[in-house]
Amino acid sequence: MKDCLTGREILLGVTGGIAAFKSAQLCSHLVQAGAGVTVVMTRAAENFIGRATFAGLTGREVRVGSFDVCEFPQGEHIGLAQRAELAIVAPATAAAISRIASGLADDLLTTTLLVCRCPVLVAPAMNCEMWAAASVQRNMSLLRSDGCHVVGPGQGWLSCGQVGAGRMAEPDEIFQRAVQLCTADQRSGDQGDRECEF
Ligand SMILES: Cc1cc2nc3c(=O)[nH]c(=O)nc-3n(C[C@H](O)[C@H](O)[C@H](O)COP(=O)(O)O)c2cc1C
Repeated sequence: MKDCLTGREILLGVTGGIAAFKSAQLCSHLVQAGAGVTVVMTRAAENFIGRATFAGLTGREVRVGSFDVCEFPQGEHIGLAQRAELAIVAPATAAAISRIASGLADDLLTTTLLVCRCPVLVAPAMNCEMWAAASVQRNMSLLRSDGCHVVGPGQGWLSCGQVGAGRMAEPDEIFQRAVQLCTADQRSGDQGDRECEF
């Protein structure tokens, strides 16, 4: 493995879907590639995976509530957003996609994303009927037109027992997109395009 993300600062948003367990692998890939990773979870995500997993993988405190830890005077969301060179939301629930698309800043993750000026990569994950819903597709169009990058979802087995579209992109695929976005961002720098394999 090459240190293709050495020195890069990545914000990893984890929302409340079954695929949250796969975000741990993504997080590990990012850390192994040299990135500094801060994880922001929604309250719902805590039903699917614990803070300790991400804290252990990143060596950093996991952020959840807007008022848990405060960077005075500006608030946690400002510092998190300003430090991030890439923000990834994986998995992105239908609810989170809706909040991001509408600019509803009602938790730490969505508030931080509103402040972010770095590239944002969204990895939707949900049941196939949810994914096909007109409201979700409308929100995805909004995200894309607002400049968000999207990876997946793929087709396949869904935890609800159905087979269809809505499965979160695999951690390796999200990781490769993250590397592309980070390197595209600094193409004029001295590191050029990089590849990283696990
Ligand atoms: C067992 C279970 C699995 C769920 N999986 C998903 C999912 O994969 N995708 C999704 O959009 N919502 C899923 N939900 C619903 C979300 O957890 C719910 O909409 C929640 O409010 C999302 O909050 P968040 O976007 O703030 O994380 C699931 C709910 C349960 C109980």
